[in-house]
Amino acid sequence: MIRVGVVGARGRMGIAVMAAVGEASDCELVCGVDVGDDQSAVDECDVAVDFTTPDAVMATLERCIAGGVHCVVGTTGFDDARLDTVAGWCAGNPSVGVLIAPNFGIGAVLMMQFAARAAAYFESAEIIELHHPDKIDAPSGTARRTAEMIGASRALHGLGAAPDATSQALDGARGAMVNGVHVHSVRARGLVAHQEVLFGGLGETLTIRHDSMDRASFMPGVLLGIRRVAAHPGLTVGLDGYLDDTTSER
Ligand SMILES: NC(=O)c1ccc[n+]([C@@H]2O[C@H](COP(=O)([O-])OP(=O)(O)OC[C@H]3O[C@@H](n4cnc5c(N)ncnc54)[C@H](O)[C@@H]3O)[C@@H](O)[C@H]2O)c1
Repeated sequence: MIRVGVVGARGRMGIAVMAAVGEASDCELVCGVDVGDDQSAVDECDVAVDFTTPDAVMATLERCIAGGVHCVVGTTGFDDARLDTVAGWCAGNPSVGVLIAPNFGIGAVLMMQFAARAAAYFESAEIIELHHPDKIDAPSGTARRTAEMIGASRALHGLGAAPDATSQALDGARGAMVNGVHVHSVRARGLVAHQEVLFGGLGETLTIRHDSMDRASFMPGVLLGIRRVAAHPGLTVGLDGYLDDTTSER
């Protein structure tokens, strides 16, 4: 039995994770903590799952890594400086596994992999991410990660900047620039989590789209993280490496 604690237990994702862990036959839900609760309950767990806020998640990570509790993190908002800090904590307790995944949707992870592959063949690449209006960060962690993967693929294949003759524009009209890729964020009631990656080449376009219609779509990925994190000591960013791991059960 994997003993699991959920941080952010009264949030939208925390509630869904508590239910999924409660139904998994190989997991035991030890605790769910939120603002104002005694966080020390998590110290008794094998794995802590954090879906909180960019402000709160670092405290969870520092505490759990020091205490030997593996971490599965869905909270977004990680930049290189934060990842370096987490990697430093991991170096201090190398047996602990930490998975930080900007998207636990397996379809979304595949979308990112397909996008990285397609990026080698198209002059133009832009990302449009669409989310519910209660989301506090923009662009989404998934969009940032996709842009990083596309940017790395373009660099590897010797592609320069995408063609763009824009010389006059309102602020924000061309979106945010992440690793040389324009990223556009849409927020509208009724949406959950959606992303399109649009590629353009001579006489053709390719659109890769993923839609999460329900938070349940993230739960197979979260459970996969919980089951495999102990076998991946140190910091892992993105679910990709775990998906290709065929050494343990799904
Ligand atoms: N990786 C993924 O696949 C994925 C999917 C959906 C959402 N997210 C991210 O997960 C995070 C949570 O999303 P949500 O929609 O559940 O948000 P939410 O606002 O519904 O829930 C966040 C919860 O965290 C709690 N919280 C805040 N500070 C805390 C602290 N110090 N200790 C304990 N609990 C604390 C809040 O009280 C709240 O209940 C966001 O960063 C979001 O972008 C990631």
